[in-house]
Amino acid sequence: MNRDGEETASPWWRGAVMYQIYPRSFLDTSGDGVGDLSGIISRLDYLARLGIDAIWISPFYRSPMADFGYDVSDYCDVDPIFGTLDDADRLIAAAHDRGLRVLVDWVPNHTSDRHPWFVDSRSSRDATRRDWYFWRDGREDGPPNNWWAVFGGRAWTYDDRTSQWYLHLFLPQQPDLNWGNPDVVAAMHDVLRFWLDRGVDGFRIDVAHLIGKDPALPDQPAALGQLDRVGIHNDPRTHPLLRGIRRVVDSYPGERVTVGEVNLHETSAIRAYYGQRDELHMAFNFLPLTVEWTAAAWRELIETVERELGEGAWPTWVLSNHDTQRHRTRLGGDERRARAAAVLLLTLRGTPFMYQGEELGLEDADVPEERRVDPGGRDGCRAPIPWTREQGHGWPVEDPWLPWPPEAGRCNAEAERDDPGSMFHLYRALLIERRSSPALSQGGIRVGPSPEGILAYERRAGDDLRRVLVSFADRQLDVPLQQGWTASVRSAGVAPWDGRLQPNEAVVLRPR
Ligand code: GLC
Repeated sequence: MNRDGEETASPWWRGAVMYQIYPRSFLDTSGDGVGDLSGIISRLDYLARLGIDAIWISPFYRSPMADFGYDVSDYCDVDPIFGTLDDADRLIAAAHDRGLRVLVDWVPNHTSDRHPWFVDSRSSRDATRRDWYFWRDGREDGPPNNWWAVFGGRAWTYDDRTSQWYLHLFLPQQPDLNWGNPDVVAAMHDVLRFWLDRGVDGFRIDVAHLIGKDPALPDQPAALGQLDRVGIHNDPRTHPLLRGIRRVVDSYPGERVTVGEVNLHETSAIRAYYGQRDELHMAFNFLPLTVEWTAAAWRELIETVERELGEGAWPTWVLSNHDTQRHRTRLGGDERRARAAAVLLLTLRGTPFMYQGEELGLEDADVPEERRVDPGGRDGCRAPIPWTREQGHGWPVEDPWLPWPPEAGRCNAEAERDDPGSMFHLYRALLIERRSSPALSQGGIRVGPSPEGILAYERRAGDDLRRVLVSFADRQLDVPLQQGWTASVRSAGVAPWDGRLQPNEAVVLRPR
């Protein structure tokens, strides 16, 4: 932000690489098998060495953990399982000491059913906060409308106490807040200020597109059947609410940032959530989580993002997160493909979001039935991070809350630090390259012609130029016309550039 309240040409977050921490699974220090804030603090040096710029921490607030922290019962305190508010302050300060920024996860669409606001709201029809949530009479045949919840079942739960139904787009333990009520808006803005005052650099906003709702809560078209709202809810009332949120965030110095989860499938629809640079600073682009591993599919994806977002909306890229199968697993466990995908993530135009452990090449854990705990079946990608080789992998317990990912004896931070050919060192090399190249961190992109099975693009900022080649083929391919270029990073190793791509290899070239 400059003094006129406008985004500067290149705010820090445009050139940054973000790293998502899922605190339950990062590192435990207390011995209960669940990660905590002290665990994060103890690995900040690791993250600084890796070369990322900012961390986003999934919710660590007080929570009954029905959705592992995405059901918040106090936005302004730390759940004892993760530590204390002092630990959060220490974490923010320790990150800043190392030049790392901190984004916290803010969950505006719903609270926990144990949040005092909801406890009051449900207590009687004339409770002060009755209208902070959506309470409605049912229809003859059941709930007030035909919406379905994300983890199954109706989006409504009937409450005997007051003989009305309340809305929850997720679990019944996650009642939706009514953002149509100005008191809710004020209370949630206070939560933003609470964390901004503590020094956080911004927010990842959970399901940001769901907060605006038509108070009539009309049925969705019958043709949509039991489809939940997350992929389809696109109400114009959300936009003024996001502008209000943006004003609070922008009223603080230091280019604080918001990145919102807008789970719509069309990039053109997501574009609207950037507003006129007065809503979200960035919206997640989730398409790479499902795109096929082919040159044609990636080419189309990149071109769609460039075309639909245009100049004013800075793109984001992500391969893995706490809600989806890890990309290495999606790519059939193939390490070569996972390496090439890392090159894509870190060389496309936009801000990349890494997910903890992808720099170790982790795959999803195979979680046996009896150990599954998540209502959304997302346990595999939430497996604990192995830090060391030996049993227990640097955790104070041998068997944390979820089982270890596969090959934890090989894919762990200690072993990979000692192996120059590891995934960790590939990410490090890419992050160093990105940091040293304005073309990669801020420049424009042009997808060029390329032989079958290869994606080729150029990044440029002023005189700085990089060319990226990604092979999606399972055989070696010759790439003509690449004289005058030398390899900065090769996903398959350190050999000099010889005009030949190994199977599923990606290479970052710079002019000789
Ligand atoms: C978001 C989160 C997910 C959570 C849901 C409800 O999609 O990423 O983990 O379950 O919102 O808060």
